[in-house]
Amino acid sequence: MPAFSVSAPGKTILFGEHAVVYGHHAIAVPLFDISLKVSIQPLPNKNKILIINSDQGNRHISFEKKEDNPYWITLETIRQSLNVDHLPSMEIAISSSIPVAAGLGSSAAFSVALTKAVSGFLGFNLPVEKLNSIAFEIEKHQHGSPSGIDNTVVAYQSPVYYRKNEFPIFFNINKPMHLILADSGIRSLTKDVVLHVKQELEKNPDKINKIFAEIEKITIEAKGTLETGDHRAIGNLMLDNHIHLQRLGVSIIELDCLVEAAVESGAFGAKLCGSGQGGNVVALTSYDKTEKVIKAMRQAGAVSCLRSTIQPTKVLD
Ligand code: MEV
Repeated sequence: MPAFSVSAPGKTILFGEHAVVYGHHAIAVPLFDISLKVSIQPLPNKNKILIINSDQGNRHISFEKKEDNPYWITLETIRQSLNVDHLPSMEIAISSSIPVAAGLGSSAAFSVALTKAVSGFLGFNLPVEKLNSIAFEIEKHQHGSPSGIDNTVVAYQSPVYYRKNEFPIFFNINKPMHLILADSGIRSLTKDVVLHVKQELEKNPDKINKIFAEIEKITIEAKGTLETGDHRAIGNLMLDNHIHLQRLGVSIIELDCLVEAAVESGAFGAKLCGSGQGGNVVALTSYDKTEKVIKAMRQAGAVSCLRSTIQPTKVLD
């Protein structure tokens, strides 16, 4: 079997995180400036799978058949989905520029890229729907009850208007969008934050369902503004969305400070992105204000700022 290499982008959620877990819409875009790469090559005469993850200091990790080993669970999910008896000996090298547990899709990129690489190495040419559904199964093992938006935006590599259990809608973005992803440096696990929201919902269903309904209204309106390219309106909707995320209890002071700094330095808007309680804030700015906004967010505590431009898309009707 010849060597096989693939990569998958990061992502950011522009609108609707958390509400999307409960059947509301959300909007996400791929981030091509960060990515996770998986390369596979044969390991002749060895009856094992070696995983080299550069995030873990370039060590060889022997692959062991253990239910609590995330690599084992992932590879087993892929094997069963492809309906093959066993996986051959191989060396899997993983390297990534997507920060882990930071709301930028590192886990979805891992699920998608690994599925694509292993299936390609075995000679399968999976349609993107199948790739996405296997990646979703892997995500379920990692996060409990994900909505599926993360693996979908990463698998299709296109902006998506997404609702759980429905086919994603791909839509046109009309003007380049200059985004800044400002990292608070604080790490949080999606699984834990999703659980926090679930507990809040159980304690206070009326309040939380009302917040979800407000977020849904914002997301529906945002789709129209993204299509027309009205960046001022998009920015205002991002700020509204952030306020509702604060009310859900998934923001923290460090993220609020980054949002405030972005807006005060001239961004159209900003909000936390992904599960929250750490991770990144996404800000939308004009091209000429980018440096100023980055400087302000750095001063407000961002440990790093990534610029990413979402290029206009043209979806065929
Ligand atoms: C995480 O990137 C987005 C959440 O809405 C969880 C999910 O949709 O599965 C918080």
